[in-house]
Amino acid sequence: MKKMHWSSLLIRTTALAWAGLALWACTQDRRPQITFPKTDLSTAALVPKPGKTIATGDAFGLDRYTALYAAAGDGELANVADFLSVQIRAVTGLNLPVNGQGEGEVHRAIYLNRTDSGSPEAYELYISRDSVLINSATAEGAFRAVQTLRQLLPQKSNDTLAAYPIWPIPTGRIDDEPAWAYRGAMLDVARHFFPVEDVKKYLDIMAYYKMNVLHLHLTDDQGWRIEIKSWPKLTEVGGSTEVGGEAGGFYTQEDYREIVAYAAERYITIVPEVDMPGHTNAASVSYPILNGNGKTPELYTGTRVGFSTWDTHKDTVYSFIDDVVREISEMTPGPYFHIGGDESHVTKEDDYVYFIERVAPIVRKYGKRVIGWDEVANATLDSTVVAQFWADEDNARKAVAQGMKVLLSPARKAYLDMQYDTLSDYGLHWAAYIPVDTAYIWTPETYAQGLTEADILGVEAPLWSETISEMSELEYLAFPRLLGYAELSWSTPENRNWEDYKVRLGAQTPYFRRMDIRYYPSTRVPWQEPEVPEPIRD
Ligand code: ACM
Repeated sequence: MKKMHWSSLLIRTTALAWAGLALWACTQDRRPQITFPKTDLSTAALVPKPGKTIATGDAFGLDRYTALYAAAGDGELANVADFLSVQIRAVTGLNLPVNGQGEGEVHRAIYLNRTDSGSPEAYELYISRDSVLINSATAEGAFRAVQTLRQLLPQKSNDTLAAYPIWPIPTGRIDDEPAWAYRGAMLDVARHFFPVEDVKKYLDIMAYYKMNVLHLHLTDDQGWRIEIKSWPKLTEVGGSTEVGGEAGGFYTQEDYREIVAYAAERYITIVPEVDMPGHTNAASVSYPILNGNGKTPELYTGTRVGFSTWDTHKDTVYSFIDDVVREISEMTPGPYFHIGGDESHVTKEDDYVYFIERVAPIVRKYGKRVIGWDEVANATLDSTVVAQFWADEDNARKAVAQGMKVLLSPARKAYLDMQYDTLSDYGLHWAAYIPVDTAYIWTPETYAQGLTEADILGVEAPLWSETISEMSELEYLAFPRLLGYAELSWSTPENRNWEDYKVRLGAQTPYFRRMDIRYYPSTRVPWQEPEVPEPIRD
């Protein structure tokens, strides 16, 4: 990103600066002179670690006399400022006004300002004794900066400074931007269904750690979880159960739109996945005309894979897919549609290739970019397709040979459903045991041979749900490992170091507690507060 000199910064922010000066002039006589304890921005427990930090050793005192301002007439920045105000209230109880919407004295201000250049999610954060200034070219960049500020806000006020509580924030400057454009997580809501509220909680946590894509694995052998109005039995029949035989569930189109909107407010893109031609038993039970494995399909509540396929030579199958892709794409503002394509073991190789090459143009017709699991690279596809590398590095190289980008989700490093160790309560271990440090200590930039940084779109951490049916179980597998993937996809290699990261990770407990996250308290992490919710295991 283009760096700005302090002097040009001042010119760009003249309007805001004058507003600030005016404020300061009319309130300074009444402001108490507070000497803050020394604080150090350079050792703050920020996850992911920012690009560049310069500490100035003082503090900004956030208190009841703090106000938020977004650049005049900028509705998007005002929304980001509103979001920040709500989050500050959740921690401090303070109701800080945005753009003068409120009564009362103002001593210090937080400004959100738009610059006319800079990469999309980049931001600069300047914290001084009297003001906080966020500069970014986009509201998305401002939103990422707001997460940094939230992480700098102490969970407890310092009540010895004044007659009212003050939350001291360390002063200095942060210049930050993400290494990768795609910093994702995936939830498998098909093997076990997770309701909208659970997905929203996951989105809240992802946003706090600057992740920007949530991939929803909406369909599989055991369940179809998204309402398709033109094919209603998909959810009536295909959504009726889940692994283990309990009642399943599904998102109505209204639910799905609610998830998409909630994600969008957090600058997170939803990627919907309809897995095909394998992993399709639930759809084939709902509409047997789709089935291509020669057997009468029945609802399936086990955890085997690779036994189902659609009939790749029936036109009805492609009309069906057209309807499904159209209905979901209409509700999905993001650029991607995931077609699955993994583990189609009972689809003949030629039929598989024919199928993928016929489905890709349908997705394109509805304005979306195809993502598929790495097997799709065996088909001939155009360079807009993204291959999600999970198992086969040869497939990743085949994708690159076709000019496609690769999304990194190597199961041995990035699968959140892999157990931490042999004693883990939930999860599987077919790819590996993945302790918290192993999840973090790898280099996406060089992980797959033959791929250069330019070939990589980003990193995604999938969480398959064969062994988990409750949010607390999901959280046990996802946390704390998800934070490592957030840092691996945001921070540059020079800024990533396990010894440094584990200390910052261990300092997340107050946030985990406030969010009621049932994390796995690995002994490899120096947790800052000793009371932990679970027995120690590794
Ligand atoms: C996968 O784990 N079958 C993509």
